[in-house]
Amino acid sequence: MGRRIRVFDTTLRDGEQTPGAALTVDEKVTVAKQLARLRVDVIEAGFPAASPGEAEAVRRISAEVGSAEDAPAIAALARCVPADVTVAAAALDPARRRQLHVFIATSDIHITHKLRTTREDVLELIRSCVGQARRMIGSDHDVEFSAEDASRSELGFLLEAYEAAVQAGAAVINVPDTVGYTEPKEYAAVVRQVVRLVGRRAIVSTHCHNDLGLATANTLAAIQAGARQVEVTVNGLGERAGNASLEEVVMALRTRPAQFRSATTGVATEQLTATSRLVSYLTGIMVQPNKSVVGANAFAHESGIHQDGFLKNPLTYEIMTPESVGLSGSTLTLGKLSGRAGFDERLRRLGIHVEPEALDTLYGEAIRLADQKKQVTDADLLALAEMHADPVPQLVGIEHWAAASRQGESSSGNVSLFYEGRTFRAFAGGNGPVDALLSAVDNALEQIIDGRPQLIDYQLRSIGSGEDAQGEATVKISAPAGDGDVPQIFTGHGLSTNVVEASLRAYLAAVNKLIAEHPVAADAVAAARQKRSPTDPVPTPAGSHP
Ligand code: KIV
Ligand code: ZN
Repeated sequence: MGRRIRVFDTTLRDGEQTPGAALTVDEKVTVAKQLARLRVDVIEAGFPAASPGEAEAVRRISAEVGSAEDAPAIAALARCVPADVTVAAAALDPARRRQLHVFIATSDIHITHKLRTTREDVLELIRSCVGQARRMIGSDHDVEFSAEDASRSELGFLLEAYEAAVQAGAAVINVPDTVGYTEPKEYAAVVRQVVRLVGRRAIVSTHCHNDLGLATANTLAAIQAGARQVEVTVNGLGERAGNASLEEVVMALRTRPAQFRSATTGVATEQLTATSRLVSYLTGIMVQPNKSVVGANAFAHESGIHQDGFLKNPLTYEIMTPESVGLSGSTLTLGKLSGRAGFDERLRRLGIHVEPEALDTLYGEAIRLADQKKQVTDADLLALAEMHADPVPQLVGIEHWAAASRQGESSSGNVSLFYEGRTFRAFAGGNGPVDALLSAVDNALEQIIDGRPQLIDYQLRSIGSGEDAQGEATVKISAPAGDGDVPQIFTGHGLSTNVVEASLRAYLAAVNKLIAEHPVAADAVAAARQKRSPTDPVPTPAGSHP
């Protein structure tokens, strides 16, 4: 058995820095639970000093995921700033195993232009802040030090910085290729020097960005050079072009052990597909079909020659099995009369985890769907299960909707929403039935929240094929303008065999997440609006349809 490589997942920190990938605190907890099922070694849960929401996410993940006996360690990021270290240490407090991750830049370009300081000051800051982290986190836990922009730092100074960090108590030394600039040979040479200097006293770690498409190759080269921790993200999410992708690095080690002196990870690879789908679903960032390991085409064989070879022996064109990454080979034919045992077995084989209390509901939904379409496929089941994994607060609901649309004419939409025991009705015109309905929802919401949400993304995809396939709508909205400095993004999904209904459900799911984070009392908003404009519509009692 070769070296055990520690998998440090930073989907919830660096991955969440992907433009448009914002997650609510509940969504982050959901992802962290799945990362624990995937059996990563460390979950970097966030950057607590960045905002109160980030601190809450790290604290909740530490408590709800990191407190179990066999849980992964939970990490939190902090700049080399005393207040950051204090907030990060406090947020990690409920976790059984903690990793306080401090960083400061070491390249001259960052020291001169961003930090506007000197190398000497940087060394001093490393000593003081790694020392502070060491004292605050306690001797049972790890301090990690990252030299930001390490790959563009002068090697002599970089090694001095790492020596200072280890002497101050860092147990993990990270070598970030912050701007995705290096290439495998060059990066391996730097990592080898770092391993030579501190490898007996600390774990040397990689952190590669993908600006030149080399993040996975650089990470693997660093393992060959002696690195023992890899910092990676699910689906390769991350700042700009992303980070090294967890599934690629893990499956490369598993598929080519001889190239890595049999280095292994503890990742449960059959959870990779479910994890990829969940992260894609909650962030609303689709995985490209030709993405290695988890893309829809990763195990599809199109050309005749390939199909012929594959049918004779899968080894001709498959270097890993679909089952090893959690893809089941066959498809489900669930009908109205299908039994519960077959359904449970199917979920298990698809790697779908549903909380036991939600299983009956999911089964009921699958059987109801079987009433609407000829066959409930694996894709339908995965989509239904994802809806359950997405914690949507049920605040505003749909009582009734109608939309009308004709060629060459503008469309109209009508909705009745309920909220806090009352009905709010509105009408709007629009460019197509979806636009009209969503505008009608906005008009109704004006009686519930202050301002209108901004629609920033809308996507529709078919779940499986066939004329009775379900449509899944994904909507991203931001809170009404003026609500905080950086507008927060909320993602909602809707699933239906009617795409207009799917769109409406997706919009309301996003709106419910928004309202849950910015609670408002309908009375207060209605009263304020009434004061501003006495002609505004007044809420009608619940249950009175137009
Ligand atoms: O890319 C980077 O340098 C980082 C550090 C904070 C580790 O994300
Ligand atoms: Zn990074």
